[in-house]
Amino acid sequence: SPEASSGAGHEAAEAFARVEAARAGEPQDFEWVARRRDGSTFPAEVRLRRLEGPEAGGRVLAVVRDLTEEKRRQEELRAQERLAALGRLAAGVAHDFNNLLTPICLYPEMLRDLPGLPERARRALGVIEAQGKRAAKLVRQLLDFGRGSVLRREILDVGGFVTDAAEMLRHTLPDSVRLEMEVRAQDVRVEADPVQLQQVLVNLAVNARDAMPEGGTVTLAVDRVGPGSLPAEPGAPDEGEWCRITVADTGEGIPADVLPRIFEPFFTTRAPGEGTGLGLSQVHGLVAEHGGHITVESEPGRGTTFRVYLPCRGTEPEGQKKGETG
Ligand SMILES: Nc1ncnc2c1ncn2[C@@H]1O[C@H](COP(=O)(O)OP(=O)(O)O)[C@@H](O)[C@H]1O
Ligand SMILES: [Mg+2]
Repeated sequence: SPEASSGAGHEAAEAFARVEAARAGEPQDFEWVARRRDGSTFPAEVRLRRLEGPEAGGRVLAVVRDLTEEKRRQEELRAQERLAALGRLAAGVAHDFNNLLTPICLYPEMLRDLPGLPERARRALGVIEAQGKRAAKLVRQLLDFGRGSVLRREILDVGGFVTDAAEMLRHTLPDSVRLEMEVRAQDVRVEADPVQLQQVLVNLAVNARDAMPEGGTVTLAVDRVGPGSLPAEPGAPDEGEWCRITVADTGEGIPADVLPRIFEPFFTTRAPGEGTGLGLSQVHGLVAEHGGHITVESEPGRGTTFRVYLPCRGTEPEGQKKGETG
């Protein structure tokens, strides 16, 4: 009924005019904030048409389509595009910085061994060199998630890979943090760059550690999930099998207002000098480059769970079966 679209209250006059225009024979297509019986509102697409025929009696047909889901997808897509743009920007800045840093790292090295250089100057040059190298390392991290980084992909058995990574991580975690490893499916294979996949695990584990200053448990898990298990994402094809790597902690969690921003480059809640805000944006970039997806779920006070989905590969490396001639 036409009343369905007249609920916006403050614009009742416009709604009325639309219905009248439709009644007069002018089809009306427009977006509207529609109101449900319970008073809540939703974005809607409204089409008004005059019913033709002798029995129609000047009645108007209204078709109201709920746009909530569509709007949400658009918003998500925009957020992803913003993220990708920021990533490219960061990579561009990183590239220029890399060039600027080269002499800053090299000259101290050259000057340090000049004969007759006062000890104080030598020490200062050492500091410049060390800090320059730290900056260069940071910049390399930045460059990593900008596209164009060279991938050396191979077929990896994820259960084994993550188990090995867990061994390595165990040594970097304080005693108060327990690390549990659960391989829930065997022979789960993906095509990935091992260095980058390791970086993903390290970044997530470091964040988990930081979220548990009083200690707790990090759980790493690997399993395989079928088509349709990806959480809704715009444009995400969800046909094949996914390898799912879970990194869960029992830490402080992430407040709901912070959650949407955590993958942004430079976003950090840590004290100045303590966080770069690049860890998760790097993770996001690396996962995307592998054709994967990452999701996060968090409950403040209880913990956070990141899930990385990578497309599963068969046992044989696909590149060797096809593509090459001769
Ligand atoms: N496991 C986690 N538990 C709680 N908060 C987290 C977790 N992982 C990430 N965060 C939040 O996301 C922010 C961004 O993380 P990240 O990109 O790694 O940058 P950084 O660690 O340098 O702050 C962190 O500052 C923190 O607020
Ligand atoms: Mg971090």
